[in-house]
Amino acid sequence: MHPMLNIAVRAARSAGTVITRAFEDLDKVEVEQKGLNDFVTNVDRDAEAAIIATIRKSYPQHTIISEECGTQTGEHDEFRWIIDPLDGTTNFMKGIPHFAVSVALQINGKIEHGVVYDPIRNELFSASRGAGVQLDSRRLRVGKHRDIKGTLLATGFPFKQRQHTEAYLAIFNDLFTDVADMRRNGSAALDLAYVAAGRIDGYWEIGLKPWDFAAGELLVREAGGLVSDFTGGHNHLLSGNIVAGAPKITAGIVNKMRPHLNEALKR
Ligand code: IPD
Ligand code: CA
Ligand code: CA
Ligand code: CA
Repeated sequence: MHPMLNIAVRAARSAGTVITRAFEDLDKVEVEQKGLNDFVTNVDRDAEAAIIATIRKSYPQHTIISEECGTQTGEHDEFRWIIDPLDGTTNFMKGIPHFAVSVALQINGKIEHGVVYDPIRNELFSASRGAGVQLDSRRLRVGKHRDIKGTLLATGFPFKQRQHTEAYLAIFNDLFTDVADMRRNGSAALDLAYVAAGRIDGYWEIGLKPWDFAAGELLVREAGGLVSDFTGGHNHLLSGNIVAGAPKITAGIVNKMRPHLNEALKR
């Protein structure tokens, strides 16, 4: 394993320990509202601190971009760690055991290493660019469907961006005609890891942030999949509008979206 991936794994596992301990006594968790339907807890912050401490110990001069702390620019800014300490905070708060830690390392603008860790199931998804993706030590591939007919897709609802409800439902409706079923599991990072594992065939969501998908996108690509924005382009890094799946499934989803895209979703 690459030494930098090794640090990412260690960081993710240390956050996992913080989270699973706290999950045993949810009454003690302190919740704060950040915005509409948007919450953060002391556990998000403690998990983030554990990750940052692990990275800082080995790489004190790297930049760290994390959901709750923002950006801490380092002297070696060509190295950027992109972190979501707890992806699926709502699930966590409600006692639903489905959430993850996401740690990615971008070097000179390219994501080189990524880890998504599910501390409840103790499943560790990891990838280095060009070296494939693994669940623990097993190599992963995206699903084999060539057409969206009969697929199992996952999605995230635009619960923080209600202005997109109408377009979202129109897209959902059109896709739902063809697919076998749809899931809303509540962790974007795990949705992408599950696409990489072929557990779900495709995934789409509006308005993600870089820490939600930095590691997951690498997992999907290393599993032979394609990640794009809603037009099939690559503006999702900026827009956060994301589609993922085997290349033909991503293309099939994008095709179904086309008639329903407003200006904001074309970005
Ligand atoms: C959220 C989860 C959720 C997705 C949201 C994300 P958070 O991340 O990934 O599944 O629908 O868009 O913001 O806030 O729990 O880290
Ligand atoms: Ca959040
Ligand atoms: Ca997240
Ligand atoms: Ca989070």
